[in-house]
Amino acid sequence: MSIRLISSYVAPFVTDRELDAIKPEVAAAHALLHGKNGPGNAFLGWLDLPRDYDKAEYARIKAAAVRIRKSCDVFIVIGIGGSYLGSRAVIEFLKSPLYNDLKKNTPDIYFSGCNISASNMRELLDICDGRDVCINVISKSGTTTEPAVAFRLFRGLLEKKYGKEKAKEHIFVTTDRARGTLKHFADEAGYETFVVPDDVGGRFSVLSAVGLLPIAVSGVDIDALMAGAAAAREAYVNPDLDKNDCYRYAALRNILLRQGKAIEILVGYEPYMQMFCEWWKQLFGESEGKDQKGLYPASVIFSTDLHSLGQYIQDGMRTMFETVVAIKETGTHVTVPEDPDNIDGLNFLAGKDVNFVNDMAKQGTLFAHVDGGVPNIVLELADRTPYSLGYMIYFFEKACAISGYLLGVNPFNQPGVEAYKKNMFALLGKPGYEEQKAALEARLAEI
Ligand code: PA5
Repeated sequence: MSIRLISSYVAPFVTDRELDAIKPEVAAAHALLHGKNGPGNAFLGWLDLPRDYDKAEYARIKAAAVRIRKSCDVFIVIGIGGSYLGSRAVIEFLKSPLYNDLKKNTPDIYFSGCNISASNMRELLDICDGRDVCINVISKSGTTTEPAVAFRLFRGLLEKKYGKEKAKEHIFVTTDRARGTLKHFADEAGYETFVVPDDVGGRFSVLSAVGLLPIAVSGVDIDALMAGAAAAREAYVNPDLDKNDCYRYAALRNILLRQGKAIEILVGYEPYMQMFCEWWKQLFGESEGKDQKGLYPASVIFSTDLHSLGQYIQDGMRTMFETVVAIKETGTHVTVPEDPDNIDGLNFLAGKDVNFVNDMAKQGTLFAHVDGGVPNIVLELADRTPYSLGYMIYFFEKACAISGYLLGVNPFNQPGVEAYKKNMFALLGKPGYEEQKAALEARLAEI
């Protein structure tokens, strides 16, 4: 087991009665998920993906990663939401948030198409100047505005740099198997393509080509990542939450929500967890936030954020609980040095591992927050390895599915995401949106 759920800091807030009462609901959610007859059941491909992935494509991903590593200095990953968060989370977690600054024999990796910022685009285009560049555009629909604009820009850059024919060797496309503008465009242009499986939604797609190609380019061992996810898949099949920590986590967060704790804060104690938190927020936010329901997923990195949000968590409105990911063996050790003058009074820490100091900060915070009325679920992750991270990814994906069914929503759709897009298209004058454009402009005139 790469994850151990520690209940001691949530136990004071959850009664045995509440846990007993939710057990039949968890069993029912399990039956819906595994019977594949619940809402959103066309999108359950992620459930068996760690075992049933396309082996031939997997080999192509590895081969493409080798070519990309050999042929470029800069690798631009173009995608938004589920099409980029997973790979970025894994690369930063296992390599570093400072990956691009490290000494390494893999390309620098940048993410584009995940915003509409002119300055960000200009900076990335400038970074590519005089360097060999490959791009991987990732879009299931193939029509999302942000990555489509970025793809147009970077394709133009590559064609200018290498010529249209040679540029093809630098462009990799991950999209629908057969449908969509991007797939047709890629086939016509002769780009190598990878598949976003039909039955896997964006936020559940990190272990498909969507995440695996950029992750492999960074040098992360994707075999170990998949092996960890496969182990979690086998570990979490028991419908009894007393024997299934993944379901226990889903049950606890739903019990806390029913008590009015409407905000869940994912807590990390390592800066390399920041993007993992972003991935987790999309996973849960987009899966649960519908029909006026759902926990609001937030995140913090301690001890950094203890100096900004710590005050609120300790003493503000009691509407939140924390889920702490505690990494047992970080694999990196730094010792606090001895100073004979001890002017800073820090010699009581001399000789101590910085991990120990971080651990004591965590322990002190757990006690303080629980004393302040904030329940804490602790998930202890064995170590910072691809295997354990793959395990944790699957843990949260499955917990999210069970949790969504407990909540009574379809965890696999995202109808709300369309609202801003319709308005944006209308305001931008996209053909077909003339009526909405007139209505929105009339509203604007009144402001
Ligand atoms: O999880 C999701 O479904 C979304 O975040 C999508 O991944 C995101 O909107 C990007 O969509 P697409 O891959 O179609 O460009």
